[in-house]
Amino acid sequence: MQKLRIIIVEDSEDDTMLMLHELQQAGYKSDYIRVQTAGAFKDALHNGPWDLIISDHALPNFGAPEALDILNKSNNDCPFIIVSNAIGEDVAVPAMKAGAHDYIIKNNLTRFIPVIERALQDSEARNDRKKVKRALRESEERFRRLAENAQDLIYRFSLVPERRFEYVSPSARELIGYTPEEHYANPKLICEIVHPEDSDLLKDLFLGKVELSQPLTLRWYHKDGSIIWFEHRNVPIYDEEGILIAIEGIARDITERVLNEQQLKTNHAQIEALSNRILNAMEDERSRLARELHDELGQALTAVKLDIQLLGDQVPATQALNQRLNQTIELVDYTINLVRRQSISLRPPALDDMGLLPAIDEMVRGFMNRTGIDTIVQSSGFSKRLPRPVETALYRCVQESLTNIARHAQAKKAKVSLKRENGLLSISINDDGVGFDPEEQKISAASIGLTGMQERIKLLAGEFTIESSIGHGTTVVIKVPWKNWPGEGKKL
Ligand SMILES: Nc1ncnc2c1ncn2[C@@H]1O[C@H](COP(=O)(O)OP(=O)(O)OP(=O)(O)O)[C@@H](O)[C@H]1O
Ligand SMILES: [Mg+2]
Repeated sequence: MQKLRIIIVEDSEDDTMLMLHELQQAGYKSDYIRVQTAGAFKDALHNGPWDLIISDHALPNFGAPEALDILNKSNNDCPFIIVSNAIGEDVAVPAMKAGAHDYIIKNNLTRFIPVIERALQDSEARNDRKKVKRALRESEERFRRLAENAQDLIYRFSLVPERRFEYVSPSARELIGYTPEEHYANPKLICEIVHPEDSDLLKDLFLGKVELSQPLTLRWYHKDGSIIWFEHRNVPIYDEEGILIAIEGIARDITERVLNEQQLKTNHAQIEALSNRILNAMEDERSRLARELHDELGQALTAVKLDIQLLGDQVPATQALNQRLNQTIELVDYTINLVRRQSISLRPPALDDMGLLPAIDEMVRGFMNRTGIDTIVQSSGFSKRLPRPVETALYRCVQESLTNIARHAQAKKAKVSLKRENGLLSISINDDGVGFDPEEQKISAASIGLTGMQERIKLLAGEFTIESSIGHGTTVVIKVPWKNWPGEGKKL
């Protein structure tokens, strides 16, 4: 049996019993209170909740209109049914308007149960709707609270019937200087504050022409005139016909990040320019020193040697003096040789006179003589000279690699390969020595050989890699794009 809590506004005990009987017959167990005055009705309402109010139209001191009035003021929307002796339209219509659910004539209770059941169903549906509405309001409030407190900018921009912000979170004031109200008041503000170079992008966004799966970066003018960068993550909103009607999104201020990146790029460019200048200056200085050693010191020493020989011829000498003279000439010869070797190692004339490949050949011969490491040079596709800075950089890289092999590799064999293929000039220097772990190489002032090579190759827009592991030898691989270098064409 379904239980019903009912207030019955009725002065007749018999009528009350009749109605309760009808309810019982229909399967309802009534828990009721019968009231006859406004005061008693108010008290009863207060002690609810109630499922139903059944009221006679006119009691001696009370009646349905007054009860309805009290009910409406109490904010309680319990279904209210008038069960009365015959009442005219003039009474029924205002009662219905005041919120009565229905009215029934006492001497014909056939509609009594159906009316009650419909009223109960309506009330239940009303309560359900209320619950849904409340849940919706709560969730809306939750989201609004989140949006209102978010540091990022959250917005909904409608595109039809007109382009305007439907929502902008309060963070707008701090992020771009304009309050949400300023955006609502002036729908064109968004087009006025977008950076001119990004305004086409903004228009494309409004037209649905921008791919929204990726974040979109736009520049805006802050109210204070500064430029700010926002990363927008937008979601397109379509109507049932698939027409883009709004854009919802979150914008994050990435100005600091962008400025840092720009600064970093400038710093890199400056460092690159600086290392370029240092490398060039170093090379020039080496050439100058090599020339001076060869030309000035070499010639002066040769003159000293000739003078000593002349002296020896002219001065009558003892055997001891002759011996001393010969020793001195030998020393001068040795020094001339030393100066020549130093001059060559500073800047090998072969590099300037004959080019990279002959210079490398010469270097490898010297390397084998000094170290005893069996080294071969292989080349293919080399038939032209390269510009001096390119030849120098590549020569120095091979030189440093061979020096590393001599110093660290404990190798038996080594190979230098030069290849020109697929638009690339590749050089690899390989040894079968002890190898090392390139990942473990820390940047340190004590070992700048590898870093220096890397820098030189970077300046040629090339790639520098080291393939090495402990016990498996080392291969240095250099790849430089084979451009139409200025000065290319002179045959090797
Ligand atoms: N061919 C090689 N075989 C084994 N280890 C190597 C080889 N080449 C480089 N290494 C390792 O890498 C380290 C770094 O080499 P890098 O040329 O940068 O510095 P370095 O030779 O020690 O000093 P320098 O600055 O005088 O060149 C070396 O100290 C060595 O441990
Ligand atoms: Mg080194």
